[in-house]
Amino acid sequence: MVTIRSVSVFILVLLAISSLALVANGEDKTIKVKKVKGKKVCTQGWECVWWSEYCCNQTISDYFQVYQFEQLFAKRNTPIAHAVGFWDYQSFITAAALFEPLGFGTTGGKLMGQKEMAAFLGHVASKTSCGYGVATGGPLAWGLCYNREMSPMQSYCDETWKYKYPCSPGAEYYGRGALPIYWNFNYGAAGEALKADLLNHPEYIEQNATLAFQAAIWRWMTPIKKAQPSAHDIFVGNWKPTKNDTLSKVAQLLVPP
Ligand SMILES: *[C@@H]1O[C@H](CO)[C@@H](O)[C@H](O)[C@H]1NC(C)=O
Ligand SMILES: *[C@@H]1O[C@H](CO)[C@@H](O)[C@H](O)[C@H]1NC(C)=O
Ligand SMILES: *[C@@H]1O[C@H](CO)[C@@H](O)[C@H](O)[C@H]1NC(C)=O
Repeated sequence: MVTIRSVSVFILVLLAISSLALVANGEDKTIKVKKVKGKKVCTQGWECVWWSEYCCNQTISDYFQVYQFEQLFAKRNTPIAHAVGFWDYQSFITAAALFEPLGFGTTGGKLMGQKEMAAFLGHVASKTSCGYGVATGGPLAWGLCYNREMSPMQSYCDETWKYKYPCSPGAEYYGRGALPIYWNFNYGAAGEALKADLLNHPEYIEQNATLAFQAAIWRWMTPIKKAQPSAHDIFVGNWKPTKNDTLSKVAQLLVPP
C-alpha cells in the first residue's frame, strides 16, 4: 500500500513538474487550422502566432532543442569567453518565433528546417567564434563567444545616410549581435524592421540576446539589396539563379555547394 501510494504521489509530482515546465516554456502549441481562399493556414500558439501556411508543419522547438543548442555552443560560457551568460536557447527560440510564420525554419518540412537551422547557426558560430585552429573542440565549438566587436577602430558612421539614418551623437555603430551588424544604416534598417530604436540605441543589441537574435534572423530573412535573394531564400530553394547569376562571381559565392 505504502509503495503504491508513494509511487502515485511521485507520479503526481512528476505530472505537476512537467506541466509547470510546459507553462514555463510557454508551450501552448495547439495547431489551429483554417482555410483562406482554399489554402490551408495554421497557428501554433506562441511559436507561430500569425495565420500562415508555414505554421502547419513542425516548428523549430519540435526539432531543435535546448540540449542541441548547448552542444553547438558548448564553450560560450567558459571564463575566457567574452559574453558569458548572455546567449541562451530561450532567447533564440523567442526571437525565431517572430519569423517562423514567414518560413524561418518552417519551410519545406522538418529536414529542410533542420538544414536551415544548421546553416543559420553555423553562420552565427563562424561570426561570433573566439576559437582558433587548435582550440579545444575546434573553432566552431567557440561560437557565441562574443556579442560585440571588441576593439572597434572607428564608430561606423556613414554620413551619406544622414537624412535617412542620421548618426546619433555619441552612438557607436560597431559590430554587435549574432550575425553582427555594423554602420548606422544597418542599425537604422534593422531597427525599423524590429520596431526598436536601434539608431539612437545601438547598444540595445549587446544588452538583449533576444533582440540580438532577432536582428540576426532579420538579416538572414531579408535581402540586402532589392534585386538580391535573402540567405533564407537561397537555402530553402526559393531562388533559382539565372545563367547570368551563375556566371557572376557574387552568385558563385551565394549558391550553396
Ligand atoms: C510541410 O511539410 C511537407 C512534408 O515535409 C513539405 O513537403 C511542405 O512543403 C511543408 N509545408 C510548407 C508550407 O513548407
Ligand atoms: C529584449 O528584446 C525583446 C524583443 O525586442 C523585448 O520583447 C524584451 O522586452 C527586451 N527585454 C528587455 C529586458 O528589455
Ligand atoms: C545578362 O547579362 C547580359 C550581359 O551583361 C545582359 O545584356 C543581359 O540583359 C542579362 N540578362 C538578364 C536576364 O539579366
